Amino acid sequence: MTVAPLRPYRSALYMPGSNARALDKAKSLPADVVILDLEDAVAPDAKETARAQVMAAVASGGFGHRQVVVRINALDTPWGAADLAAAAITKPDAVLLPKPNSSRDIMTASVELRRAGAPDSLRLWAMVETPRAILNLSDIAGAATLAGSRISCLVLGTNDLVKDTRAELDATRTAALYWLSASVTAARAFGLTVLDGVYNNFRDADGLARECAQGRMLGFDGKTLIHPDQIAATNAAFSPSDADVATARKIIAAFDLAENKGKGVITLDGKMVELLHADMARRTVAIADAIAAGG
Ligand code: COA
Ligand code: MG
Repeated sequence: MTVAPLRPYRSALYMPGSNARALDKAKSLPADVVILDLEDAVAPDAKETARAQVMAAVASGGFGHRQVVVRINALDTPWGAADLAAAAITKPDAVLLPKPNSSRDIMTASVELRRAGAPDSLRLWAMVETPRAILNLSDIAGAATLAGSRISCLVLGTNDLVKDTRAELDATRTAALYWLSASVTAARAFGLTVLDGVYNNFRDADGLARECAQGRMLGFDGKTLIHPDQIAATNAAFSPSDADVATARKIIAAFDLAENKGKGVITLDGKMVELLHADMARRTVAIADAIAAGG
């Protein structure tokens, strides 16, 4: 299992690989991750142009602290193999694989990347967007334990899940809760990052804020986005608040006191605090520090 270095994954903005203007903007937007899309956002007759444009953008660099991810077409489409081969030699941080249903699909893409010359550091991110993927989450995320697997992140594809299941999502996303929680649980079981699906109504700031808060409560590291206007609110929602950081520092300091050395449980402000809370507090501070160091 690979344990990724601690870094923020609050906001991951998709942009159509066919939109040169959007690709150019990627280098200046305050997103933690940019996902250059060759799949659903690109029409079939624009696939080759988009691939060339995306690879040129990745090769030109200049993305700073942003993680650069290329979403390829599925390997059973006419474009998938060429997308994967081009990404292997252009070396974004990760390739995002659409529609995997099993660990076998993860391993096939991992092995093909190696054959195409990808460095070991190139990660594989997996969309979770089919009913079979939901049923097989433990197998898909568990691919992280297999030799040669590159999987490091799960990305929810809620629009596809809605289409395939015929569920309807309202503001509470009740119908999606099983998919969302199962994905977070599977990701945590195998040390993966996990990102929530997109909020389609990009002019609705209140709705986005509500969905970000829900995603954060469910345990997601961040959210995938479709429009630059969604970045600021998402970064805010998935950052530890000043109050969170202050509480975390207080917990760490309390366990460091001489009188508490060696204790597994203490009382702080009238509440039970265990060593596991100190672990959580150290993570909160580390993420806050990583956010402060980025940007
Ligand atoms: N990434 C980077 N820049 C983007 C962007 C994105 N996802 N979406 C919009 N922009 C840019 C536009 O190019 C425009 O730039 P400009 O002012 O320099 O011309 C600016 O932001 C304002 O765009 P706006 O007019 O508000 O939106 P639009 O009507 O042009 O585009 C969408 C709306 C939904 C078509 C567009 O946001 C988009 O393509 N989003 C991504 C879709 C996608 O990748 N889907 C697949 C995964 S679900
Ligand atoms: Mg999809």
